[in-house]
This record gives sequence, C-alpha cells and structure tokens, in this order.
Amino acid sequence: MICCGGPAPGGPDVGSALDETEIELYFQYLPMKYLVVVLCALVGCGVSLPTATVNDASRANVQLADLQSGRSLLVSKCGSCHRPPMPADERARDWPKQLDEMTERANVDVAQRHLIEEYLVTMANR
Ligand code: HEC
Repeated sequence: MICCGGPAPGGPDVGSALDETEIELYFQYLPMKYLVVVLCALVGCGVSLPTATVNDASRANVQLADLQSGRSLLVSKCGSCHRPPMPADERARDWPKQLDEMTERANVDVAQRHLIEEYLVTMANR
C-alpha cells in the first residue's frame, strides 16, 4: 500500500542501500584515522624528528638553542593538522616556499617562522 511519504521515484530500496554503504564506509574510515592519531601520540611520531646537535649549529652557523626552539615549534605549530614534517621530506632550498604556504595556516609569527625554517633547512642539509 502506498501512503503518505511513500517511496520516492527510483525505489526506496536503492536509496537506503546506498545510504547504508556510505555510512558504513564513513565509520570504517573514521576509526582508522583516529587509530593513526592515537598510535602516533603513544609511539610518538614527532619524536623521530632529528634533534639538532652542536655540529649542526656550527655547520649552519646558527645558535643551537635556535635550532632546538625551531624543532619544538615545528612539533607544536605544525603537528596539529598532520604529523610535523621531517626536514628530509623536502630539499633545503624548497623549505622556504613550503613554509610560505603553511605559515598562513599555522598560527606562527615571523620570529617563530624564522626558527622553524632555520631548523628545517639546517637539518635537511645534514
Ligand atoms: C590548519 C592546519 C595545518 C597546519 C597548522 C599546518 N598544515 Fe601543513 N598541511 C595542511 C594540509 C591540509 C595539507 C595537505 C596538502 C595541502 O592542502 O597543501 C598540508 C600539507 C603540508 C605539507 C606537504 C605539502 C606538499 O606540497 O606536499 C607540508 C610540507 C606541510 N604541510 C608543512 C607544514 C608546516 C611546516 C607547518 C607549520 C608551519 C604546517 N604544515 C602546519 C594543514 C596544515
């Protein structure tokens, strides 16, 4: 019997089957994403970022303290949307351009950006 709010053209079965698949996919995908984030938090994906040493500082002719600040800024400012990038992900000369794009999204001021750039460029040159 067809009553109020009856089947839409195309048939109700097709429509609801599609909806279910979409919802299922959504729920299958979502926990995976969270799992990765939680695993990263537990195992410490950020921890694998290389630590600057005295050698890095003298090679690049910068302060070791600046490199260390750059590293922690990278973790805190650039790790909220995705894992903080590894210095070796880009060539040293490509980092400034990448930072141009990303500092617009991340809430970093000029001084912080400078420190992050110093760290990434120095460590990418290792
Ligand atoms: C507000 C969220 C957000 C923040 C904060 C953020 N990013 Fe990203 N980043 C993204 C998204 C989204 C992408 C995916 C690729 C795209 O849209 O360009 C991305 C991609 C990247 C990539 C890869 C780009 C490419 O061309 O493959 C790099 C490198 C990167 N981010 C570096 C950084 C650095 C460094 C910082 C800190 C200064 C940062 N991100 C902060 C959202 C963010």
